[in-house]
Amino acid sequence: MKAKAIAHPNIALVKYWGKRDQKLNLPAVGSISITLKEMYTITSVEFLEKLKQDVLILNGKEANQKQLNRVSSFLDIIRNEAGFDYKAKTISENNFPTGAGLASSASAFASLALAGTEAAQLSYTKTELSELARRGSGSAPRSIFGGFVEMKTGELSNGSDAVAIQLADEHHWDIKIMVIITSENYKTVSSTNGMTLTAKTSPFYEQWVISSQNDLNAMRDAILNRNFSKLGELAEFSCLKMHAVALSANPGIIYWNPITIKCIELIRKMRQEGIPVYFTIDAGPQVKAICLPQYLESIKLELSKIDGINKIITTSLGSGAIIMEE
Ligand code: PMV
Repeated sequence: MKAKAIAHPNIALVKYWGKRDQKLNLPAVGSISITLKEMYTITSVEFLEKLKQDVLILNGKEANQKQLNRVSSFLDIIRNEAGFDYKAKTISENNFPTGAGLASSASAFASLALAGTEAAQLSYTKTELSELARRGSGSAPRSIFGGFVEMKTGELSNGSDAVAIQLADEHHWDIKIMVIITSENYKTVSSTNGMTLTAKTSPFYEQWVISSQNDLNAMRDAILNRNFSKLGELAEFSCLKMHAVALSANPGIIYWNPITIKCIELIRKMRQEGIPVYFTIDAGPQVKAICLPQYLESIKLELSKIDGINKIITTSLGSGAIIMEE
């Protein structure tokens, strides 16, 4: 009763921010993302009859109680489906900084959903896996699939239609992403807390939810027609709108640092000079720059001149979650 899986993180081009149900983790808005190739999480799960408690090893170290509780509750869903209550030993490793706003929860729960169900001998379709992964993290369903992925809000109260679907695979369009790390150790408002506060207190929240529908329709078109400037403009629009609605919560949530702003300014300056490059930013200070392959090296060179950037990780589009042989 053991299995190992790999999944890649993703970044949203149309952002998810807000839940329609906290307990089942159902999104209030749909989202569209790209799955990143060079970054990954590998997770193995082993259910053992003799184990008294769940054990979680994260990046070579025993996890803290909060992390363990989150994984245990997720494994409970699998145990319940499988009809046993064996505890599990879970080992999870990222090849990129954890908890630095790089969507580690997406690849973590996508790989855990796949390894966990496989170890429990449940055979889930990708759609069912995405529904399960959602219980761990709202962005995780998107990492079940590769390439360009849409997460649906669904309408049902049990969440069975709040699943991810693939819009196009990773070979559809060669897009490059530069993940610019502006800070590796920062404390921030978790996305769940940020979403809850925003929904409760922002005077603009309702408009954020309503207006997301147009963004999703336009982004789907841009992807299917390989219209890069449209994709980039929409990604920046959705990103800034998400941060604007978070800023307008009470107290306002600020995820950026001065280097985040410097990256935004430089990306916009390069664009004025004719280089097609766009940014997106999640619930943290890191900036993701998006471009076509022929511009990658010159953009990276310009960005690396910004004082204070820790590291730039370059990646293409990657595949969905898959089982690895032991
Ligand atoms: O999966 P969560 O609950 O960490 O939410 C992710 C939220 C954002 O990264 C800010 C946006 C998104 O769509 O990924």
